[in-house]
Amino acid sequence: MTDTYVGSIDQGTTGTRFIAFDHSGQIVANAYKKHEQIYPNPGWVEHDPIEIWDNTTHVVTRALDNAGIDPSQLAALGITNQRETTVVWDRDSGRPVHNALVWQDRRTTDRVEALTRAGKAEEIREKTGLEVDAYFSATKTEWLLDNAEPLKMRSARGNDLRERAEAGELLMGTIDAWLVYNLTGNHVTDVTNASRTMLYNIHDVEWDDDLLAEFDVPAEMLPDVRPSSDESLYGHTDPDGFLGAEVPVAGALGDQQAALFGQTCFDEGDAKNTYGTGSFYLMNTGTDAVESEHGLLTTIGFQLSGDPVQYALEGSIFITGAAIEWLEGVDLINNAAQTAELARSVDSTDGVYLVPAFTGLGAPHWDGRARGTIVGMTRGTEKEHIVRATLESIAYQTRDVAEAMEADSGIETTSLRVDGGAVKNNFLCQLQADILGTSIARPVVDETTALGSAYAAGLAVGYWDTVDELRDNWQVDREFTPERDEEEVDRGYSRWADAVERSLDWAQE
Ligand code: G3P
Repeated sequence: MTDTYVGSIDQGTTGTRFIAFDHSGQIVANAYKKHEQIYPNPGWVEHDPIEIWDNTTHVVTRALDNAGIDPSQLAALGITNQRETTVVWDRDSGRPVHNALVWQDRRTTDRVEALTRAGKAEEIREKTGLEVDAYFSATKTEWLLDNAEPLKMRSARGNDLRERAEAGELLMGTIDAWLVYNLTGNHVTDVTNASRTMLYNIHDVEWDDDLLAEFDVPAEMLPDVRPSSDESLYGHTDPDGFLGAEVPVAGALGDQQAALFGQTCFDEGDAKNTYGTGSFYLMNTGTDAVESEHGLLTTIGFQLSGDPVQYALEGSIFITGAAIEWLEGVDLINNAAQTAELARSVDSTDGVYLVPAFTGLGAPHWDGRARGTIVGMTRGTEKEHIVRATLESIAYQTRDVAEAMEADSGIETTSLRVDGGAVKNNFLCQLQADILGTSIARPVVDETTALGSAYAAGLAVGYWDTVDELRDNWQVDREFTPERDEEEVDRGYSRWADAVERSLDWAQE
């Protein structure tokens, strides 16, 4: 019998990856391609959805070709994606009306501040579990419908995008929906992605009419919302399309929820932290949507076909890996791997703290006007201290959200599962264990985001039968335990909090 696999398209902020997994959760095919980051104005970040789709077809084809796998050997395809990033496109032509507005884009900060001034924040938080912030898709969709002037297309209804959306001519979606539409022709999303739009009621598990009215988003343009693992399928790939085979598209999750699933955090209290462009610390809270009192988000963790929705608490840190990219951009390092060696060459940062609030601060501060800060420099400060301070900022920001998580959930995490590109860095993992005072577990397969969406798709088509099979696949590569003196760590953490204070509310516009 021919071997079969499950494929996962992992469409992230900096690039697109395709991985095929075998039944034991091991990687059998893998390809990656970066896409352009477009910065039209300070604080604005866009992606070209057509480039993202082209790169998707490219990485899928390349990975399968290189591994000698025929597309017909794919039992299912799963999608995982950068969340919140918003696309509006024409239903018939499939052409986007504008570039995608990326989750990091701050152009709607004035709008969210006006909502807060108008006293709407509490109601929005109650319904969506989210802080009112430009991070989410609601104000991005509103902005696109109001402003996508240059690319408006001719139609019998003229150029009014909102009118065209009401008539069902325009569709809105996060990147999962954009990819599923291009793969299958269907307009669907999953519950985890819907829960990041700020238009979705996470308790009623449906689009919220009041929020649609508030943001003037026509319901006609929204995708159908499905379980993350969907036995009734999102659709099939077109046998005459780029893949040349009819493969069921059976699951999708936002990338952070996919990592939670890939780390097999299926039970209440299970937690993971993913170190990518930013870092996202999620804890499964079961069927209870736990309301945060410490600046975390309440979000949908995943939903399997026929099961109730599982919720999660989330600490969203906007900039962690991107701070290392910044070090490279300003020529302090040649590549990310070098950070360990440079940071290790000094005993401490010598009192330097770097707060990488480049796009404002997310959890637990939620300050869209915070900006990056370096404090504590002297004439003796060397680049090694700044590099070390950057790595420490990743670990300190994680401690900020870990403390909030413990306070909200009442659950003390004794071993945190970690993944994402930066966990290859042993120095960072040890630093994280020291600063958290908690052990850190790095799994053998660290592509847990892709793995999670493959698991969701594979469960839907019966490639895997139960989540217990998936638990058996999880294996630890290395565990890092705290080694540093707790009092010394606490002193550093308190200085970190002082540095964060200095970065708050900096930007004027
Ligand atoms: O919420 C944003 C998050 O989904 C982005 O993840 O891995 O693309 O930086 P990543």
